[in-house]
Amino acid sequence: ARPADQAEQPEGEAERAAQDVTHGGSLGAASRARYTRAMHRPFSLVRTGLRAFAASAMLAWLSACGSAVPGPATASLEPAPVAPGSETVAAADPPPAGPLPEGVSPEHYRLALTVDPASERFSGEVWIRVRLDAPTERVWMHGSAMTVSSATVSRPGVEAAVPATWTTSAERPEVAALRFARPEGPGVVELHLVFEAPFGRQLAGLYRVDVGSDHYAFTQFESTSARLAFPGFDEPRWKTPFDIELTVRQDDVAIANTRELDSTPVAGGLRRVRFATTEPLPTYLLAMAVGPLDVIEATPIAAGAVRSNPLPFRGIAARGRGPELRHALAHTPALLAALEEYTGTAYPYDKLDIIAVPDFASGAMENAGAITFREQLLLLGDQPPEDQVRSFTGVMAHELAHQWFGNLVTMPWWDDIWLNEAFATWMTTVVLMQTHPDMHAELGALGGTHGAMGQDALEAARQVRQPIETDHDIRNAFDGITYQKGAAVLSMFEQWIGPDVFREGIRVYLRQHRFATARTEDLLGALSEVAGRDVTSPFLTFLEQPGVPLVQAELRCEAGRSEVRLAQSRFVPLGSSAVRARPWSVPVCVRYPAGREVQTSCTLLEGDTGTLALDEARGCPAWVMPNAGAHGYYRWSLPSEGLRSLLGRGWDALSPLERTSVANNLRAAFTSGAVPAADVLAAMVRPAADPTRTVLTEPMMLAGAILDEHARPEQRAASRRWAGGLYRARARSLGFAPRDGEDGETRLVRRDIMGFLAVTARDAGVRAEAVRRGRALVGADGDGALHRDAVSSDLVGVAMVAAVQEGDAAFFDAVQGHLFATEDAVLRGRLLAALASTEDPVLAGRALDLALDPRLRVNEVTVPLAVQAEHPEGRARAWAWLSTHFEGLAARVATTRGGSLPGLFSGFCDAEHREAVRAFFEPRVGALPGAPRNLRATLEAITLCEARREAQGASVQSFLSGLRP
Ligand code: BES
Ligand code: ZN
Repeated sequence: ARPADQAEQPEGEAERAAQDVTHGGSLGAASRARYTRAMHRPFSLVRTGLRAFAASAMLAWLSACGSAVPGPATASLEPAPVAPGSETVAAADPPPAGPLPEGVSPEHYRLALTVDPASERFSGEVWIRVRLDAPTERVWMHGSAMTVSSATVSRPGVEAAVPATWTTSAERPEVAALRFARPEGPGVVELHLVFEAPFGRQLAGLYRVDVGSDHYAFTQFESTSARLAFPGFDEPRWKTPFDIELTVRQDDVAIANTRELDSTPVAGGLRRVRFATTEPLPTYLLAMAVGPLDVIEATPIAAGAVRSNPLPFRGIAARGRGPELRHALAHTPALLAALEEYTGTAYPYDKLDIIAVPDFASGAMENAGAITFREQLLLLGDQPPEDQVRSFTGVMAHELAHQWFGNLVTMPWWDDIWLNEAFATWMTTVVLMQTHPDMHAELGALGGTHGAMGQDALEAARQVRQPIETDHDIRNAFDGITYQKGAAVLSMFEQWIGPDVFREGIRVYLRQHRFATARTEDLLGALSEVAGRDVTSPFLTFLEQPGVPLVQAELRCEAGRSEVRLAQSRFVPLGSSAVRARPWSVPVCVRYPAGREVQTSCTLLEGDTGTLALDEARGCPAWVMPNAGAHGYYRWSLPSEGLRSLLGRGWDALSPLERTSVANNLRAAFTSGAVPAADVLAAMVRPAADPTRTVLTEPMMLAGAILDEHARPEQRAASRRWAGGLYRARARSLGFAPRDGEDGETRLVRRDIMGFLAVTARDAGVRAEAVRRGRALVGADGDGALHRDAVSSDLVGVAMVAAVQEGDAAFFDAVQGHLFATEDAVLRGRLLAALASTEDPVLAGRALDLALDPRLRVNEVTVPLAVQAEHPEGRARAWAWLSTHFEGLAARVATTRGGSLPGLFSGFCDAEHREAVRAFFEPRVGALPGAPRNLRATLEAITLCEARREAQGASVQSFLSGLRP
């Protein structure tokens, strides 16, 4: 395992298996995604930045599209499966391929569901008021995997209900035709449908989760899964009020988006709960939760300058887990207050529930007033690991930010999803820098930006604003490009027009579109208006073409005149033939010494070349940093003397953000071939000794990549010794145990360094200590019980990985026993990742087989593959396993994550495996949401790795052979 790679992006999914939550805040940086793995990961992270290119492209855990597996009708609450109004025919009248047609607009829903989570199926009725622009005999609607037993249309107050027919077709099973007996409209009609459907089992739609003998039902509707729960118009452009009713068992709790109005007993030991009418919402933001849940009433969130009434606030968790919400409940109000202050807009809904869901596909989901999270993000123990605290904070800020960006103002279609995800990601950094400066969200965000640059360098890269035609495109839109590149571009233009002006533009935009929809042009128009200059055109050069600009900067001093010559092109990795469509309009700022000060000068670089005049009075500066404050979304290069000066005399004057940028750009120069590998490796000494975590982890990522891609087996020992040598002194002063009062950054540095030394560099002393503590944690040489005090919570992953790798089959059994004995999601993640890190072929086979073990949660099933796939030998094993167990895995994995499976293999570096991956996945990607593009990115990453190995191999070998044996 390698150190946490902030640079990598959210992404991907399973593939990225490893990352860390940490950067949570930065989630920006850390994206979203990582957190997932993170928790699975032993210690952080992990992937080589190089591999950033790896296809990681998508956030895997994301979205849910796809249909649930229908199960047999058995449960007590279910209606008899009769379907008089329902037929399936092949159509003379084919369903629309993309969005539903215009002219039919829902205005209000009343939705009544009967939900017994112990059953296989649920049932419901929906009444939808719809405006018809013209007379019509047929309305297209969404509704997937459901049986409709009755359908009628009426004109409220004018005419009684008339039967209608619900027809689905095999071509597009989630789109149905509702046919009337005679033309209806123009005007408003009411549709009434009675239906039943299976609970989802793969974390999409209205899905079931079993914990021990308890049964729960939760929802995950974004992006296109509300259609699995009720018939409707499941696209974000329609925002309507919803009246929701849930009929549940007497002793089950029922939660929805709004406050409960009343609860009435009904026949069969049930009760009907009615909820207040919602504000206008798109279907994807509805949420429900049913089951024997703990409900913790917190103190209402106090009113303030922006909101005049206290806000009811609760925490919800599986039975018995409520007390673990304490940290989350205590720390949410400050984040909410910061968002209200920034937006100048009161939280828009009538209550706030935060819900810990025992099995959840993504990290969290911003449902209006009922935000759902995977348990790791919300249930924090007494001594939570620092990465967990950060992930909670960052993800909470992100989902709260969506209550304005996405919920209050919604994009009409998925091509503008960056307005949700980039905004929430950027806003998280802004909020955390203010509320939790010690978390250094700005550094995490930069790590995220660098990760996105890895994805964006691929020819297969999406645009931030990419046309959306298919469900694959929707799924692919939740990637590092949308989240981290989008956030980085926002932040770059925030700097360009000034943060106060930017905030005013945001406030105007929110006021103009509240409870309605808005597109990119609306946002950029508001910013331009407030800024008094055209923000739209330069901004669109980043949104509407893929790629990372490379700004080549060269200092010229002549006759007392100093200037920086600038040239822009597309950053391309070795082996890539990616091209740029048109120039970017890049806000470029450079820093340089001027007397005793350090000065910044800026320009907007619009053409292929430009010149930036420096302060003339003070002669020729000793160095220039071509990306001041690291605010620009571009990579940069300097001629070799310029780079030497920056790394020499410039280094100490640079800020932590700038040093992070320098270290990352050096690593990028290895992937582009701009600097020979030996020079990049030699330049890592200084970053490795840096106090800043995002700087000192860059060499870890490079070393991880070198070991994976270049070090021949007989060179591994020397390479590891070199890599370990970069950090040994720091490790000695850090020790294994945190000191009292130590800050979070130090704890994370300890985790990264100990993880790197124990696992990647195989430092004998550190590894032995990790093994000792890992064995003690699970009581391996004693009582077999869990001893949490054996190792600090930050190092549980490190210790367990080392102990499993050095342990035998009996130890593996013991760890597996602990895994199955706990419902603590964090501990489960660390134990599972540790089991999966085994290097013993027989145990590795057992670890991979765990993917199909019913005792794993659905959101854990890709962990064994992802962890094995981090290193060459395991990658080959994981590949062999997948090719024989694919069908079983596909039937279990979260509906929305199957598309990320190709990315697990983006670390391969040879043509033979590339062709094998292609041949295996090509016929399968059509059925996995988002997989076609992810496969392309994966194949490209493998090709680039081969090219890099070819081009940089000799230089790497010369560096390695110069190391003492
Ligand atoms: N809206 C997303 C969750 C989502 C993504 C649902 C794609 C369906 C499809 C949510 O706001 C989100 O971005 N969650 C991230 C965590 C976040 C802090 C980066 C996640 O789940 O990884
Ligand atoms: Zn989000």
